Order: sequence, then structure tokens, then C-alpha cells
Amino acid sequence: MAKRKITILDQDEILRKHCRVVTKFDGRLWELLDDMAETMYDANGAGLAAPQVSVLKRVVVIDVNDDHGLIEMINPEIIATEGSEIAPESCLSVPGRCCTVDRPTKVTVRAQDRNGETFEITGEGFLAKAMCHEIDHLDGVLYVDKMVEDVSDRYRMVGGQD
Ligand code: NI
Repeated sequence: MAKRKITILDQDEILRKHCRVVTKFDGRLWELLDDMAETMYDANGAGLAAPQVSVLKRVVVIDVNDDHGLIEMINPEIIATEGSEIAPESCLSVPGRCCTVDRPTKVTVRAQDRNGETFEITGEGFLAKAMCHEIDHLDGVLYVDKMVEDVSDRYRMVGGQD
């Protein structure tokens, strides 16, 4: 495993590109997943998407410190949402900022695991937000694009960055 460099908005156009569907579930993918997890944990993040480490593949890792532990999602798609809540978010690629975003309170995602097996996962609350935030990254969308209000002055970054 190796830590990778996190791309920062405005320094790298890669964050604005669409990511490619993963078709090969091989050692190269597993290395990417392992490196992304290490990079996320090292940065105290709750999630990380492959373009944040300069790889244009539809790959996401999330760990919101709940019973799910580390979640690896390849080619994830949101298949159902419920509810709506405006709450603060931050992003490892947009350091020093915190903005509120309107997200569903419950989200079901269909994705593949590292072996290519399809699974579904339903998340509520912070996990639901994190899944939406990370999947947006795969289409070049940053949470600041969707911000309701910039609350950077009011909130300290205390983990929970995606
Ligand atoms: Ni992010």
C-alpha cells in the first residue's frame, strides 16, 4: 500500500472530468483501492474518489466510522433516495472550506466490489451524504457546485471530510 497525492481543486482539471467505468477487476484495481483507503485514513477523510488521486476510474472508498467499516464501491450508481437535509460538508480536494449542501437523508447504491460482484448498500445520515458526495466526484462535480451557503467561518474542519 502507498499513500497517494490528493488533487486540489483549481490546481488540477482532473477533478472536472468524467471517470471511466471499470471493467477489469485485477491486481491493479486492488492496489488502487488499497492506496485510496490508506490515503483517506491518513488525511482523516470519510471518503475518497479515484479522481482525487488523479485516476479517472469509477472507484470510491468510504468509511464513516460506523458498523459498515471500509466500503469499496466500483461503478456505483444511486438507485433510490429518500428525504432531504441541508447540512455542512467539506472535501479533501477543497481544503479550508465548509459549505452546506442539500442531500437525501437515505440513499441506496448499487455497485460492484473488488471482485466484480454486484451489491446494494443503503446508507442514512452521514453515510448517505458521503455516498452522494463521492459519486458526484466521478462525474466531475464538486460539493461546492451545489452549495446552499458557505459556512467556512462558522465550522471548523473536524474530520468528516470527503
Ligand atoms: Ni470530496
